[in-house]
Amino acid sequence: MSFGLAIIGCGAIGTVHAQTARRAGVTVTGAWDVLPERSKAFAKEFGGRGCASIDELLSMPAIDAVVIAVPNDRHHACACAALAAGKHVLLEKPMALTRAQCDEIVAAERASAGSLQMGFVCRQSPTSLAAKQWIDAGRFGEIYRIRASMTRRRGIPGLGGWFTTKRHSGGGPLIDLGVHLIDLSLHLAGHPHVERVSGVTWSKFGSPIRDYRYTSMWAGPPNLAGTFDVEDAASALIRCAGGLSIELTVAWAANIPEGSTRDGISIWGTRAGAFFEVMGGELSIATEEEGMLVDIKPQFEAANALDLAWDGQFRHFTQMVTQRKTPVATGDQGRLLHGVIEAIYESSSANREIELR
Ligand SMILES: NC(=O)c1ccc[n+]([C@@H]2O[C@H](COP(=O)([O-])OP(=O)(O)OC[C@H]3O[C@@H](n4cnc5c(N)ncnc54)[C@H](O)[C@@H]3O)[C@@H](O)[C@H]2O)c1
Repeated sequence: MSFGLAIIGCGAIGTVHAQTARRAGVTVTGAWDVLPERSKAFAKEFGGRGCASIDELLSMPAIDAVVIAVPNDRHHACACAALAAGKHVLLEKPMALTRAQCDEIVAAERASAGSLQMGFVCRQSPTSLAAKQWIDAGRFGEIYRIRASMTRRRGIPGLGGWFTTKRHSGGGPLIDLGVHLIDLSLHLAGHPHVERVSGVTWSKFGSPIRDYRYTSMWAGPPNLAGTFDVEDAASALIRCAGGLSIELTVAWAANIPEGSTRDGISIWGTRAGAFFEVMGGELSIATEEEGMLVDIKPQFEAANALDLAWDGQFRHFTQMVTQRKTPVATGDQGRLLHGVIEAIYESSSANREIELR
């Protein structure tokens, strides 16, 4: 079923959302970016009206739902405005910059005719879905350890731009990549209560910007006059009620020899364990059957795993908008997750474990 869709923020991920909508047969009805030329170019490419302001876009009755894909510091204002206008919202991660902002977004959703879905796309990859299915069927037994890592040798996004400027992004790879991994780990484990966290962040590669050596960069070449005041790597131990611990490693940049680590999610359960690449195509399960140690490798559709994840997220969004189904990733989950991330930053700067209230 189709509906009136608008994109707020016509950059890299706004474009991915519009391409995903196109694959689903949903046309973009409106778009707005703070750069007017981007709104216009976007409308030319994907159709609909290139709006001159967010107010113009939100006042269009033909628009039922918006995707918010602006820099992190704009999430709160855009989400609250869209929900106040009664639109449904798919909000990119991270939810916002502070817990107070997250609370306000949740309150805005409660007061709105619209609903909010968080952009936790990693839950929708074929490997994540398969792992979740096995877990929910009880095939892993008690899950007591999850190891989650996403590391890059040189992969600072848009060095000197909004990603590396704390007041715009809220932080480095912890809030950028860690948000996906912590969300996915908690989701796989059935959202246990997080009791305590201990974390460390480092900043070793982004400053001075002119000294950064790289082979490619997400979001364009470095801005030599820009800012780098966030971490470029982080690790954390997250202890949950019931005994599960989650170990997190993220890096935008680190001297990691090729092939020395494997990024993804490792799950240790009493009856089975697994490893999978979050947006890749492989899931390996180690279990016991008939008194034997057995390896299982589910086979997946040959299609691009990344596209399948975006398609899955959009399918859930469509169902939320057109059938009023419960959001697949809720504002409350985004808010709790933000509390965990804030506590990891606090742990790193205070040099001690933090208990979550
Ligand atoms: N789900 C994912 O896997 C994933 C991946 C990358 C980025 N993201 C998230 O998507 C969001 C956008 O990231 P991106 O990589 O597309 O960044 P980007 O810089 O490519 O695009 C951001 C766009 O927002 C516009 N913009 C800037 N300030 C604005 C404002 N005040 N109002 C309206 N538009 C404004 C910019 O002109 C730009 O076109 C971020 O929140 C990021 O964390 C999610």
